[in-house]
This record gives sequence, structure tokens and C-alpha cells, in this order.
Amino acid sequence: MRRAGDAGSRLRVVRGWSRSSPRPSGGAPVGRRYKDPSVRRSLALFRAFRREQVDPEACYSLLARDSVDQVEAYDGPVAGRTVVDIGGGSGHFTEEFRRRGADAYLFEPDVGELGEKPPDSTVIADGYLLPLYDGVADVTFSSNVLEHVADPQTFISELVRVTRPGGLIYVSFTNWLSPWGGHEWAPWHYLGAERARARYRRRTGRTAKHALGENLFAVHIGPTLRQVRARDDVRVVSARSRYWPFLAETVVKVPGIREVATWNLLLILRRCPP
Ligand SMILES: C[S@@+](CC[C@H](N)C(=O)[O-])C[C@H]1O[C@@H](n2cnc3c(N)ncnc32)[C@H](O)[C@@H]1O
Repeated sequence: MRRAGDAGSRLRVVRGWSRSSPRPSGGAPVGRRYKDPSVRRSLALFRAFRREQVDPEACYSLLARDSVDQVEAYDGPVAGRTVVDIGGGSGHFTEEFRRRGADAYLFEPDVGELGEKPPDSTVIADGYLLPLYDGVADVTFSSNVLEHVADPQTFISELVRVTRPGGLIYVSFTNWLSPWGGHEWAPWHYLGAERARARYRRRTGRTAKHALGENLFAVHIGPTLRQVRARDDVRVVSARSRYWPFLAETVVKVPGIREVATWNLLLILRRCPP
């Protein structure tokens, strides 16, 4: 594991990105895969999310396979590509990209999120300021991080910066008015964040991990779409619900309703030539 603050780490991290970097044995991904979109897939994901606390391994392995399938659906096989997973937490996505032959690297600012065995060459780094040269990544991947940063547009700018022209950027987030917007205190966030947090504490006896304005922010779909569409350094390839079994793009086109019905917005962006 490397720390972005280590002396000379910027150079080492970038140099470390050779084809000789450690890579797990290749081969087909382990576990079941579902067609996206399909009712079976959405149900399987929903069941896995419900069991996330008791079986996080199964939940995140399935989500990782599903997400890399989505990347490949838009961009072709990831084998041989350089992939950066920003805010990747425990590293399931990075591992899945590697299983499919990508040179994938995890960048995560919070050591506490890494789990017991983070992927080799994990870099402790903040997504606002990545220790990477411009345009090094073929695929820049960020799952469920945007609602955890105070300035989503600056965060997206950094994802764009490290992506090569023509490269793909995968950004997904749970928007505030989604039924899951309040995370562990959802859906009570509809009654206000403070009230929902207090209820969580009363019911579980634990302090909630997330606090609005500290590590969870009210990100909305409409303004986010307007901001990415106004950029001249990316093209929006797709804006869709990440998990819906049908009408995944349609639901995102309906102002108002999309804020509640999308659940989780997936943006597929393509970096424009300079
Ligand atoms: C809900 S977890 C998502 C983890 C993983 N990407 C997933 O989809 O399961 C949010 C992650 O965002 C990370 N995060 C928060 N602020 C960040 C920042 N400024 N830059 C990069 N990652 C950040 C957190 O440390 C955490 O690992």
C-alpha cells in the first residue's frame, strides 16, 4: 500500500503503473452474472443489498461483477486497460477489473474503509487530488462516492483530468431524494436528516456512520445532469438508473420524479479530445 503523502509518491505511483505491476491470475470472473437490464438482475442485486450487513462479501462481489459488466457493455473488454477505482473502499471493484485482465488500481482516502486485505498497490489518496498524471487512465471508475464529497463537480473534474481523451468515466451515486438517500437512516431522511439520525440511534443504540454535511451530502440528479452536460471536456454517453430492470434511461428524463424514482444515478461519460 502507498500513501499519497509519502515523499516522492507521485512519481513512484505513476512509474508503478507498468505492465509488470502485480496482477492476479486471469480467467473468467467467479460467480454468477446477470443480463442488464433484467428483472432477475435487479432482484439479485436487491437481495444482495438486503443481506449486505450479514454477507458483505457476496453483496460486493455481485455488485462488482455487475458494474464491470456495465463498463464493458459501453467500452468493450477491460483486459489490458488501465483502470483507476476512486474511493473504491474495500477493493472489490478493483479486484474484479483485475480478474478480467485490467491493470486496475484502487485509490481510497480512508484506511478504515480498506478492509483486511486491500488489493496490491492500493494508494491512499483523496479523489480531489489524485497523485496521477493527466490522461493516464483508460477507464476511471467511481461507485457511490459522489454523495460523500462536499464538492461533486471538483471531484468529477479530477476524474476527467486523469482520464485519457476518448477514455470512459463511470460515476454513480445515490441521490439525496432516493429512498436510499439517507443511507443507514433511510427512508427517514424524508423527515429530515437530524430526526432520521436520532431515530437510528434510538433504534440501534449506535451512532450512525453518516452525518449530513460531514460525510454525506444532498446531491440531486437535475443539477448534476445540467452541470455535466454543460462541460466541454466530457460527453454524456448515458445517464440512467444503475439498478432499474427497465426504463432505466427514461426515468432519468422526467424532472421531479427522477429524484425519487432513479434510486442511484449512473453517468457514463466519455472524455473529449483537448
Ligand atoms: C459508500 S463508500 C463506496 C465504496 C465503493 N466505491 C462501493 O461502491 O462500494 C464511499 C467511499 O467514498 C470514499 N470517499 C469519501 N470521500 C472521498 C474523496 N474525497 N475521495 C475519494 N474517495 C472518497 C470513502 O472513503 C468510501 O470508501
